[in-house]
Amino acid sequence: MDGIPSRNLALELVRVTEAAALSAGRFMGRGQKEAADKAAVDAMRLVLNSIEMDAVVVIGEGEKDEAPMLFNGEHVGTGSPPEFDLAVDPIDGTRPLADGFVNSIATVAIAPRGTMYDPGPAFYMDKIAVGPEAVGMIDITAPVAVNLRRIARIKDMHVNDITVVVLNRPRHEKLIREIRECGARIQLIPDGDVAGAMMTCWPDAGVDVLMGIGGTPEGVLAACALRGMGGEIQGKLYARNEYERRQAEELGYDFNKVITMDDLVSSDDVFFAATGITDGLLLDGVKYFSHGARTDSLVIRGKTATVRQIIARHNFNVLNPISQIEY
Ligand code: FBP
Repeated sequence: MDGIPSRNLALELVRVTEAAALSAGRFMGRGQKEAADKAAVDAMRLVLNSIEMDAVVVIGEGEKDEAPMLFNGEHVGTGSPPEFDLAVDPIDGTRPLADGFVNSIATVAIAPRGTMYDPGPAFYMDKIAVGPEAVGMIDITAPVAVNLRRIARIKDMHVNDITVVVLNRPRHEKLIREIRECGARIQLIPDGDVAGAMMTCWPDAGVDVLMGIGGTPEGVLAACALRGMGGEIQGKLYARNEYERRQAEELGYDFNKVITMDDLVSSDDVFFAATGITDGLLLDGVKYFSHGARTDSLVIRGKTATVRQIIARHNFNVLNPISQIEY
């Protein structure tokens, strides 16, 4: 009913990402990518299935990595309404977690059934994302210099003080050169462009814009987060080779089309949660101590634009006897 506060499912989703982070965090630096993924996925699935909803996984990430996954088409939740699409990345930043580097998070989002973009075989997307002050100022088809100048102008900053977050990949050599030619600063991240996009909306992170090519599923997750954080993301599909392009084009994907935030998730009624696994500019990683751990999460609701940061302390002595997850 109008006016009466309704359920904020993001507050339930945060238990999902906390469980994934607590389970996966144990694998930091152990070099076991697959085992970390499996621990995160198992924990997530268990908690997701306790939430009263009928959610279908439209974005699971396993196919790209051949990792243990929450399958596309899998239904999670108790099976009763409301009906949702679900996007999940149990570990965004599997490599840094396994190698002991920064910036891996556990993340999940839901939005009303049929409202999330289906990336199909279009694995990669060129992206630009900004925080609230620069909404409406970006254009993925414009040169890097034009976007950076527009962002600087609207934020009343010198372009030299603008910080661009970029995934550290050889494919970004030209992008990095162009950013440098403009005089802007660059924050390279080893992985994790969901967090990268969210940093543009998080003043403490000191980042103004995300640029570059990353996963399309991660683009959908970032769009879900940015809806509640008041930011904007745009994209254009990117193919690594002719085969990848043809496969996607045969299914109707258009590599020239600008993919807007509305294309990525067309509803405001979106719920998002993320928990840090290893330390990052956005979230602290899991800190284990005697018989427990501390987690740092962001909990976001699109409709109300409420962003909550939840620091939780988990007591394993109490949890282990009553939980199916071994903490
Ligand atoms: P996963 O750890 O979930 O596989 O993704 C990490 C990531 O860095 C994403 O954040 C990013 O969108 C994508 O990989 C980029 O792909 P690639 O590592 O192939 O360049």
